[in-house]
Amino acid sequence: FVTLVGPAHAETWPAHPITIVVPFAAGGPSDAMARILAERMKQSLGEVILIENVTGAGGSIGVGRAVRAAPDGYTVSFGHLGTHVANGAIYKLGYDLVEDLEPVVLLPSNPMIIVSKNAVPAKSLKELLEWLKSRPAPPTAGTAGAGSGSHIAGLYFENVSGIKLQYVPYRGTGPALNDLVAGQIDIIVDQTSNSINQVRAGNIRAYAVTDSKRVANAPEVPTVDEAGLPGFHMTLWSGLWVPKGTPQEIVAKLNTAAIQALRDPAVKKQLENLGLQMPPQDQLKPEALGAWQKAEIAKWWPMIKAANVKVE
Ligand code: MLT
Repeated sequence: FVTLVGPAHAETWPAHPITIVVPFAAGGPSDAMARILAERMKQSLGEVILIENVTGAGGSIGVGRAVRAAPDGYTVSFGHLGTHVANGAIYKLGYDLVEDLEPVVLLPSNPMIIVSKNAVPAKSLKELLEWLKSRPAPPTAGTAGAGSGSHIAGLYFENVSGIKLQYVPYRGTGPALNDLVAGQIDIIVDQTSNSINQVRAGNIRAYAVTDSKRVANAPEVPTVDEAGLPGFHMTLWSGLWVPKGTPQEIVAKLNTAAIQALRDPAVKKQLENLGLQMPPQDQLKPEALGAWQKAEIAKWWPMIKAANVKVE
């Protein structure tokens, strides 16, 4: 159907609540970031912003929901390296991650962190790798589904360590982390923002962060370069998109509201407390996210396709 979405509509937008589709379960890192931003964006936009968690298939179900929504600015797609890059190399999506979405804004990022259940008798990454190699069957790694950021991080970990993992998919790494704390799975290569509080609480063990420098709010966790997996660098960035065809005036209003949120001192503090790093100030225009996404597709698809991920 053709939606009557034109300049007049853009003038009065937003005239009713906006929905941000988060393609992972409540309580995970995507959900946390989206809620923090939505809370502040609604002040600038003057409308309620609802978070809708639409999960499954590595986030591609939720992204598909947003792609097929009317291009009227009332449905926004939250996503990241997994959902808006990796999924395109794994699933027959029924939509095109670049052609069927308009980029709105690049959001904060964070390195991944290698964490294990407390029962693992390892005091360093080297000891963890030995323990993983000594398992009688492939050790279990929690993910948010094939193509999720935690899954891509697992594939990368397998490549650099030579250790085969048995992936255990969840609807998000919030639920996966609960099982790690309960000792049901062995490791997660998780977003630092998700695991950091459980590490601090002593409920799971952290071994390294996948960056060349330590995370400001977890200075005790070594980098992979220091700990024994040099060069295993991966930063998970997030972003907002809207369906293709959304009027540019609306994209601009959403972009402005998101930037205001990112520059709000209270929001910055909340995000940085989670170990999140602000996007570069010169990468905040909508087209910067578009260019970033295309570059990341070129960077990650070869490794992901080589992994030959089987999805039903
Ligand atoms: C992932 O890609 O691992 C997701 O971001 C997990 C989540 O947000 O729940």
